[in-house]
Amino acid sequence: METVIVLDFGGQYNQLIARRVRECNVYCEVKPYTMSIAELRAINPKGIIFTGGPNSVYDEASPHCDKEIFELGIPILGICYGSQLMAYTLGGRVETAPVSEYGHTEVTVDKHDTIFENVADKTVCWMSHTDYISQAPEGFEVTAHTPVCPVAAMANPEKKLYAIQFHPEVMHTKEGAKMLGNFVHKVCGCGGDWRMDSFVETTIRELREKIGDGRVLCALSGGVDSSVAAVLLSKAVGKQLTCVFVDHGLLRKNEGDEVEAVFGPNGPYELNFIRVNAQQRYYDKLKGVTEPEEKRKIIGAEFIRIFEEEAKKIGTVDFLVQGTIYPDVIESGLGQSAVIKSHHNVGGLPDVVDFKEIIEPLRMLFKDEVRKAGLELGIPEKLVFRQPFPGPGLGIRIIGEVTEEKVHIVQEADYIYREEIAKAGLDKGLGQYFAALTNMRSVGVMGDFRTYDYAIALRAVETSDFMTAEAAELPWEVIKKVTNRIVNEVKGVNRVLYDCTGKPPGTVEFE
Ligand code: XMP
Repeated sequence: METVIVLDFGGQYNQLIARRVRECNVYCEVKPYTMSIAELRAINPKGIIFTGGPNSVYDEASPHCDKEIFELGIPILGICYGSQLMAYTLGGRVETAPVSEYGHTEVTVDKHDTIFENVADKTVCWMSHTDYISQAPEGFEVTAHTPVCPVAAMANPEKKLYAIQFHPEVMHTKEGAKMLGNFVHKVCGCGGDWRMDSFVETTIRELREKIGDGRVLCALSGGVDSSVAAVLLSKAVGKQLTCVFVDHGLLRKNEGDEVEAVFGPNGPYELNFIRVNAQQRYYDKLKGVTEPEEKRKIIGAEFIRIFEEEAKKIGTVDFLVQGTIYPDVIESGLGQSAVIKSHHNVGGLPDVVDFKEIIEPLRMLFKDEVRKAGLELGIPEKLVFRQPFPGPGLGIRIIGEVTEEKVHIVQEADYIYREEIAKAGLDKGLGQYFAALTNMRSVGVMGDFRTYDYAIALRAVETSDFMTAEAAELPWEVIKKVTNRIVNEVKGVNRVLYDCTGKPPGTVEFE
């Protein structure tokens, strides 16, 4: 398979570079810069991309590369720090720029070489650097500059070495995708026939080889990531896979049954499915607990306890599957214990041993790529486009003590909210939306009677990374309809509030 390797020198956008390459239909993976030349040779990539990074090449502690890499005959594109590293290693000069360039910068293309083929003479790029290349190494030609940066891009076409100071992978670089496309197709000569179905096929084959006749255990939450991971595994090893689905009683309305319908014995997949109905166990544990982090810890700890209990019943388990998306795969040798990372689906998990190795088949994918893989695998759209849902579930969408009654209230309100959002055609455009149960009770009047009931808070945010978010400006008609339905249909609620807070200062969730 034609592969491009992104060598990670510590920049923020490494996964984004890999993703942009995959968008060119070329398979791409991020590897640490410490990867040896022998390992690189074994992969035999069609091209290598050096990422940016926060360091200066002159710091001794900063990541460097073996000069031999430039002699392999494999095309290399250096980006930002990666470009400086290329220049520095090959005898050019790197210096602190007189003024740092951040953000939108007009770059003048001096030579329309392969990288700049079909790119405008002046093109807006995204810069973020304090050092720059002041002199290109011998054999290189300067192909672009800015008023501040004498070498915004340089090239040695004979050796297939290219370097650009700006970030082609971010959206703000208007023609960045074109430049990366030029690199992978025209410099590296990749055909561009990789598709998400190739990912699915290759991954299934690799999983089969790796697992052999071993036993695999997967914690299924019903969320997109763990569902896609589970289906991949079931296609790879069928009944060697057991999925444990813990219904902690803090799921959205009907969710437990929906997950069972897809993955249970009547569903389309061949796997062992265990649903643990632990609702009461959770309600008992959460009784009287009001502090959010304590709730998270209890929910997480109970989850792993149940999971371990089920694993013991199965007997030996060789591999544990996690639906983690794009952090590193945890390596652990045979016979050694692995540590579960803070599970992305369940907050505050304690460390646990007992498995030989953890498999994370989605580790290099972004959320929307996971969704594409999910569709490719034939997982129902409803599940594939499910809203992000925190591991502790409704436990952290009920302010204060969690009780069965409160869970029921928030489930019903949230169901109505989601239904109306979908009816209004807003469901795919919003970052995240849900109903939460405030701990506030207030006086109302219904049918000539005084009520003293709970207030439901509606939340909807626009966000792309969940690190920052803005309250969504939902159409008033939708809010009005949801409000009417909730106060009329959900017993125990007499008031509906809309949360207008962004993040910061708020968070997406209430707790
Ligand atoms: P916050 O509330 O931190 O949410 O702004 C950002 C994103 O993370 C999700 N979230 C969690 N996910 N366990 C999870 O698995 C948690 O404890 C947790 N808390 C928040 C939240 O739903 C949003 O998508």
